[in-house]
Amino acid sequence: MQDDKQKTWSGRFAEPVAELVKRYTASISFDHRLAEFDIQGSLAHAQMLARAGLLSEKELDAITAGMSQIRDDIRAGRFEWSLDLEDVHMNIEKRLTDLIGEAGKRLHTGRSRNDQVATDIRLWLRAAIDDIDGLLRELQTSLLDLAEANVDTVMPGFTHLQVAQPITFGHHLLAYVEMLWRDVERMRDCRRRVNRLPLGAAALAGTSYPIDRAFVAERLGFEAVCENSLDAVSDRDFAIEFSAAAALIMTHLSRLSEELILWMNPRFGFIDIADRYCTGSSIMPQKKNPDVPELVRGKTGRVNGHLVALLTLMKAQPLAYNKDNQEDKEPLFDTVDTVVNTLRVVADMMRGVVVKPEAMRRAVKQGYATATDLADYLVKRGLPFRDAHEAVALAVRYAVDAHKDLSELSLVELKSFSSLIAEDVFSVLTPEGSLAARDHIGGTAPVQVRAAIGRARARIA
Ligand code: ARG
Repeated sequence: MQDDKQKTWSGRFAEPVAELVKRYTASISFDHRLAEFDIQGSLAHAQMLARAGLLSEKELDAITAGMSQIRDDIRAGRFEWSLDLEDVHMNIEKRLTDLIGEAGKRLHTGRSRNDQVATDIRLWLRAAIDDIDGLLRELQTSLLDLAEANVDTVMPGFTHLQVAQPITFGHHLLAYVEMLWRDVERMRDCRRRVNRLPLGAAALAGTSYPIDRAFVAERLGFEAVCENSLDAVSDRDFAIEFSAAAALIMTHLSRLSEELILWMNPRFGFIDIADRYCTGSSIMPQKKNPDVPELVRGKTGRVNGHLVALLTLMKAQPLAYNKDNQEDKEPLFDTVDTVVNTLRVVADMMRGVVVKPEAMRRAVKQGYATATDLADYLVKRGLPFRDAHEAVALAVRYAVDAHKDLSELSLVELKSFSSLIAEDVFSVLTPEGSLAARDHIGGTAPVQVRAAIGRARARIA
C-alpha cells in the first residue's frame, strides 16, 4: 500500500495524480457544505444494506456510531478536510474507515459517488427551498404590514414612469406580494422534482445487489425514486429550475429596489429608508445613499449569471455522469446564499421604510392623475369615450397653463369644456374619489385593498 500522499486511484495507475491536477479536480473546498446530507444519505443507505443482509447489525451499529462522531467533529469545526481525498464523499468515507475499520469499507457497496452526490445535492437543495419558502413569506408579511398601514395613502400610479392615475401605496405594495406568492408557488413546484431519490442508480446502470430503493427514499423523505438510472446520475434539471425560480425572485426584488431608490430621491421624496440601510459618501458630506437596494439590484446579475452557467454546463453533456457536473455546486450554493441573504435584508429594510404621504399626494395633483376620472364622468353622462377624452385633454391643457389641478378649476371653467359637467364633478376629481371608484377585486379602492390584504395573509399563513 502507498501512503496517502502518494495516493493513486488503485493498482490501475502507475503514478500518482499530478499536484496541479489534484488541485484542479478537487471539490472539497466547496462541497464540504454537503457533509450533513452526505452523512444522512450514507446512514439511510447503510440501513438498507443491513436489511438486505449486506451488512451485519454490528457493522451497521459501527457505521452509525462512526458517522455520529464525524458529524459532531464537523459541527465543532474539528474535522480535517483533506485535498488528497478530493471531495466530501471520500473525506467522510476515509475518516469512517479510520474510525471503525472494515465496516467503513463496506459502506460503499452498491453505491457510486455519482448517485451519492446527486442525492446529497437534492437533500441540500430541498432544505434550502424550505428556508426560502419561509423567507418569502416573511418578506410578504413585512410588505403586508406596510400595506396595511397605507391602505388609503394616496400616491400616483405610473405608466411610462409618468403620472397615470391615483392609487394607494398599499395597493402598490400588494403588487409585490403577488409576485412573491408566485415565487412561493414556483419553489414549491420545483421542490417536487428535487425531492426524488437518485441513490440506487450507482455509477449509471444500477447495481447487482438486492437493494431497496423505496426504503431509502422513505428514510430520506423523498417522494419517489428517480425512475431511470442514467437520468438519475446525470439529471441537473432540478438545479436549473431552481435557479430560474431564484432569478425571478431576484428580478422581483430588483424591481422593488429600483422603486425604493427612485422614491427616496428628493425629486420624488415619497419615502425615506432607515439610516441603518444607507451609507454616506467619503467625499460628499450631504449624501445618504441607498446602497442596500442598489446591491440587491446588482446581485440579481450574479444569480442570472449562475442560471446561464448551469444551462451551459448541461447543454452538451452526453449521458450519463460526467465530471462537468461537479461545476453545478458553486453556482447553486452562491444562488442560495444570495437569495437567502437578500430576502432577509429586504424584509428588514421594508420594516424601516418611512412613508411621506404629503409628497405622494402633491405628485398626484401635479400629474393630473384624475383626468381619466373626469373622462369617465362624462361617459357616464352619455358622451362617447373618445369625445370625453378630447374634452378632458383640452381641460388639462387649460389647467397646465393656469398652474392649477383639475379640482382647482371653477365649475364655470370646467363647464366650458363640456356642458355635461355639473357640481357633483368635484367628488370625482379628488384622489379619494378616484380611488373609491375602483371598487372591484384587484382595484385600488381602499376597501378592496383591505380585503386583498386579508386574503393574502390567509394564503401565506
Ligand atoms: N465530486 C464529484 C461531483 O461533485 C462527485 C462525483 C464524482 N464521480 C466521479 N465518477 N468522479 O460531481
